[in-house]
Amino acid sequence: MNSQQLESHVANLLVVDDTPDNLRLLSTMLSDKGYKVRGVINGEMALKAARSTPPDLILLDITMPQMNGYEVCQHLKADSRTSGIPVIFLSALDQVLDKVTAFAVGGVDYITKPFHLEEVLARVENQLTIQRLQKKLYDQNARLQESEAKERKKSQQLELALQQLQNAQAQLIQSEKMSSLGNVVAGVAHEINNPISFIKGNLSPVREYTEDLLRLVQLYTEDFPNPTAAIQEQLEAIDFAFLRNDLPKLIASMSIGADRIGEIVQSLRNFSRLDQAELKAVDIHEGIESTLMILHHRLKDEVEQRIIKVVKEYEDLPKIECYAGQMNQVFMNVMSNAIDALQSQKSWEKEADDSSHIPTITICTRLLSDFQVGIYITDNGPGIKEEIQQRIFEPFFTTKQVGQGKGLGLSISYAIIVGEHGGQLRCVSIPDQGATFAIEIPIYHSTKRFFEGDLGGL
Ligand SMILES: Nc1ncnc2c1ncn2[C@@H]1O[C@H](COP(=O)(O)OP(=O)(O)OP(=O)(O)O)[C@@H](O)[C@H]1O
Ligand SMILES: [Mg+2]
Repeated sequence: MNSQQLESHVANLLVVDDTPDNLRLLSTMLSDKGYKVRGVINGEMALKAARSTPPDLILLDITMPQMNGYEVCQHLKADSRTSGIPVIFLSALDQVLDKVTAFAVGGVDYITKPFHLEEVLARVENQLTIQRLQKKLYDQNARLQESEAKERKKSQQLELALQQLQNAQAQLIQSEKMSSLGNVVAGVAHEINNPISFIKGNLSPVREYTEDLLRLVQLYTEDFPNPTAAIQEQLEAIDFAFLRNDLPKLIASMSIGADRIGEIVQSLRNFSRLDQAELKAVDIHEGIESTLMILHHRLKDEVEQRIIKVVKEYEDLPKIECYAGQMNQVFMNVMSNAIDALQSQKSWEKEADDSSHIPTITICTRLLSDFQVGIYITDNGPGIKEEIQQRIFEPFFTTKQVGQGKGLGLSISYAIIVGEHGGQLRCVSIPDQGATFAIEIPIYHSTKRFFEGDLGGL
């Protein structure tokens, strides 16, 4: 019953007294005043009546055979159905101890016999008013809590929406970043490709022409062993003996250099994989290698002259059906983080303290089953503290200084591995010893669903 219903409702009273005269007197008096009154003559009956139809107030005699008023009150308070009903004790006794006991067992008021009509009414009305007000307060509280819960839910929904928005924004920024990196890489690769092919193509005729020319000079020196003074002078000026020896070597090293540039161009093209935005079976090691090549300059610390060692433990892997460009982004993000971690001040300091500590990135690939491969990228840097580990996949979470990290790399990698490929991306780290990022993906994209079911989050 709410407080409004309570106000319009006729109060329901239960009177408990073992003296029939008293009972009759009280009942009549209260009924005349418009209350609904039920009267019972002992404790047992009182409990039964209160439980079957809880009254708004109980007037309870203290001195009764079998169960006295205090006991009845204790039973009422112990039962959740009746514990909230106010009890006014009735007794002829007028001793301090009894009053104290009456309040101690849960009574709210105390009327001594013989009754004065006005006093009884005033006390009953008083308790009913208190009860009404309490009910009102309770209702208001409940309404307040309800609206608070609604507000909380609303703010949670807002928070969720904000998070989704941030995720979307993060993905946009990162894919923009990666696609512009991909574009630059692809553009550079394309631009270098033509001149380098031209150089490579011309190197072999250059070698032949040089050999021809040298042979011709050789013939001249054999047929004309006594050159004129001018020729002799020129031979000495250009240090012909050295030139003849060095020129073929120069051409050979230019050829090696040109081949190397050719490989780099191939790696750049592999990395950008702009031609492979669609699902394709690729050699994952090729992707790792081209990423390493792109990051090669970062493995060396120019100032400190220290080099990060890269250890590769590749297993024979079948071709993996995946979005190659996206997979390369993941390798790039995880390896960049490992390099950042190893180059952070702390790890270099560690190296200085401990000469046996060589900053190392270990890349390990494993065939996990007929359907799944694992790529494990480990660094022996400062590692990640437990409380940070829980947050590294959140978009925009970074511990790096402003301008050094946006906190996007891992959240995007997570979306690519888990969302796009139905795989798993996990981090295992022991602070001060390093971190391992485990990337596990299905070999066939058609098994993506199967592995997705297996995920259960991080
Ligand atoms: N190998 C690692 N060792 C130590 N901490 C790491 C490692 N990898 C990631 N972290 C921690 O995880 C955080 C989040 O990494 P994430 O790649 O998402 O963002 P970021 O590197 O800070 O910025 P961004 O990748 O956008 O440039 C990093 O700031 C760093 O604290
Ligand atoms: Mg990063």
